[in-house]
Amino acid sequence: MTLRLMGVEFVPVYRARASVVAPSSASPPAGAPAEAVIEPKAVPGAAAATSWGAEGVAGSASSPGGRDRNAAQALLDRVREWYEQDSPHTNFKTDHTKIVFGVGDPCARLMFIGEAPGADEDRIGIPFVGRAGQMLDKWIAAMGLQRSEVYIGNVLKTRPPNNATPTIDEARLCAPYLYEQIAVVRPEVIVTLGLPATRLLLGTDQSMGQLRGRWSEFVYRARPGEPRIAGIDEFRVPVMPTYHPAFLLRSYTPENRGKVWADLQKAMERLGLRCNRSRQSA
Ligand code: URA
Repeated sequence: MTLRLMGVEFVPVYRARASVVAPSSASPPAGAPAEAVIEPKAVPGAAAATSWGAEGVAGSASSPGGRDRNAAQALLDRVREWYEQDSPHTNFKTDHTKIVFGVGDPCARLMFIGEAPGADEDRIGIPFVGRAGQMLDKWIAAMGLQRSEVYIGNVLKTRPPNNATPTIDEARLCAPYLYEQIAVVRPEVIVTLGLPATRLLLGTDQSMGQLRGRWSEFVYRARPGEPRIAGIDEFRVPVMPTYHPAFLLRSYTPENRGKVWADLQKAMERLGLRCNRSRQSA
């Protein structure tokens, strides 16, 4: 597989370590995408898990942290039902045929949040399957992960007319459902892709240039009067904002590619991924 499209000439081989490690350099060190193993999420009383990574996790019933994947998926299904019942998208203009809810490991440690489905996503019903999705797939692979190991969602779950950027009002109408998705998945890190997702989660109107590459925090609080499907009162998730893959497709410069890679490396560091300096050719 070539990762050169995103400016990754070489990718480090990562192995789990018990503690968070110092970041590797912003430019990818030599090595090839051979193996990724991430430290399991620690849950008191949970059976010790070995790893998640190269073998994939989507098929196994319990997550590395000992959570029940089927139960988490059932909760996500309930969030979807809640969304479909309310249909918040009927309050604004859409050009959709399908609701594009989310995809991936319901107990993922890493969650990506984009803007809204495009034409390909609307046709298939799965987020990030078009050109931007192919770019995102390359990023995930460059991180040493498989798509099935992360969870991917969007601010809006319906395609906007002419692929318009979601307005803040549209985003707010759809926010409770996204927040509940996050609360069910309970990722350890969220990477927001572009401005709408970043602004919504962080409640800021700063620019992408100001926000990307810096850790912030999403604070989930169960809201009175809304279904508490995840059954959590409050929790916090570190957020690493980065550019949207579609932006990179439009502005495909070494500088932007380097910035995205630097942001993704920060997420990897937070998850305990570590470069073992093994070098192989890409
Ligand atoms: N862009 C997004 O933000 N989300 C998708 O699902 C596809 C393209």
